[in-house]
Amino acid sequence: MIIILFASCLSIVASGSIVNNRPIIGVLSQETFSVQHLYRNVNYLSYIAASYVKDTESSGARVVPISIGKPRSYYEHILRHINGVLFPGGATYFNQSQGYADAGEYIYKIAQELNDNGDYFPIFGTCLGFELLIIIASGRGEKENRVKCHSYGNQRLNFTDDFRTSRMFKGASDDIIEILANDSVTVNAHQFCIVDENLTSHNLTQHWQTSSYGIDDQGIRFISSIEHKRYPFYGIQFHPEKIAFEWRASENYPHTWNAVRANRHFMDFFVNESRKNTHSFADEMEEQRHLIYNYAPKYSGARGGYFEQIYVFKSQRLNNYT
Ligand SMILES: *[C@@H]1O[C@H](CO)[C@@H](O)[C@H](O)[C@H]1NC(C)=O
Ligand SMILES: *[C@@H]1O[C@H](CO)[C@@H](O)[C@H](O)[C@H]1NC(C)=O
Ligand SMILES: *[C@@H]1O[C@H](CO)[C@@H](O)[C@H](O)[C@H]1NC(C)=O
Ligand SMILES: *[C@@H]1O[C@H](CO)[C@@H](O)[C@H](O)[C@H]1NC(C)=O
Ligand SMILES: *[C@@H]1O[C@H](CO)[C@@H](O)[C@H](O)[C@H]1NC(C)=O
Ligand SMILES: *[C@@H]1O[C@H](CO)[C@@H](O)[C@H](O)[C@H]1NC(C)=O
Repeated sequence: MIIILFASCLSIVASGSIVNNRPIIGVLSQETFSVQHLYRNVNYLSYIAASYVKDTESSGARVVPISIGKPRSYYEHILRHINGVLFPGGATYFNQSQGYADAGEYIYKIAQELNDNGDYFPIFGTCLGFELLIIIASGRGEKENRVKCHSYGNQRLNFTDDFRTSRMFKGASDDIIEILANDSVTVNAHQFCIVDENLTSHNLTQHWQTSSYGIDDQGIRFISSIEHKRYPFYGIQFHPEKIAFEWRASENYPHTWNAVRANRHFMDFFVNESRKNTHSFADEMEEQRHLIYNYAPKYSGARGGYFEQIYVFKSQRLNNYT
């Protein structure tokens, strides 16, 4: 019965590519620097802002949380059973041992191998996650390949001349593009930027296509969307998940109908990408054991937290996998 259930979700579309309509996205957790102060009596290992989970679920995927601080074998195990990974934004250092960046690097390299071997395994990085993608691609070193900047406002996207050749925007409808291009509906909240020079200095322009730019408060022109030319790896500097799921009154996030529907594009696109991957868990019980439904989010916003809701994880035994 389970076998029938799992097999029935794969259908062959006209183009011949296999479509997995039960995609599962792994969302990487991160150190608790920005949330631990809300829970003084508990020592949490990592957290995930629930807005990333909800934004992914809204596009028709389920979520598996991915732990930090694990050996490479853990990430190999997880990636073999899921259909893509989201690197969320947030606030942590990339030089922490066994943290978000180390986990991200394992995932990036494993995903590269999977894709090199004929699999299709997408990664999507938002804000800090986008910076992490580029810093991993640059080779992590003493000096992180990004610049200090300051961008805390809603912006329109300044698309490149050839943005329509990017996979990220190729299929977007004209009205969505028009909103993104003309209205300030993308939320920026970052103190680092990736600029053109960071690509050219590390020979990354041959591998990555920039599709849009933003401008920081001092006029620095930063890359706001990018994708790898060969691998299904995508990054955006802004925060689509905040539009429908973060409501902090002091932040001025746009919640208009146009902002909501234009920002939906990004997880709709990413979940579409994950439908091209056919990994699955061995059976339904194994799948259930890993899903984020095993955890309940906390209403951190009511404690004055930056995020409305968060998932916090106490031990390294996330997913009961050791
Ligand atoms: C990591 O980077 C931060 C910010 O640059 C710095 O303050 C900290 O000392 C660094 N930590 C390590 C372990 O190098
Ligand atoms: C990133 O680009 C900026 C601007 O050109 C430069 O100052 C910075 O050193 C670059 N970072 C690295 C690691 O190359
Ligand atoms: C938009 O980007 C182009 C280059 O792609 C640049 O020449 C132009 O000045 C930018 N416009 C704004 C308003 O930022
Ligand atoms: C959006 O911007 C484009 C290019 O600047 C312009 O042609 C178009 O009329 C604008 N649309 C709206 C609704 O403002
Ligand atoms: C970039 O490519 C050039 C020419 O192939 C090479 O000399 C240089 O070392 C490369 N730089 C980096 C940072 O990889
Ligand atoms: C997702 O895929 C469907 C089916 O191919 C397509 O119609 C739709 O435009 C895609 N959406 C995005 C945002 O890529």
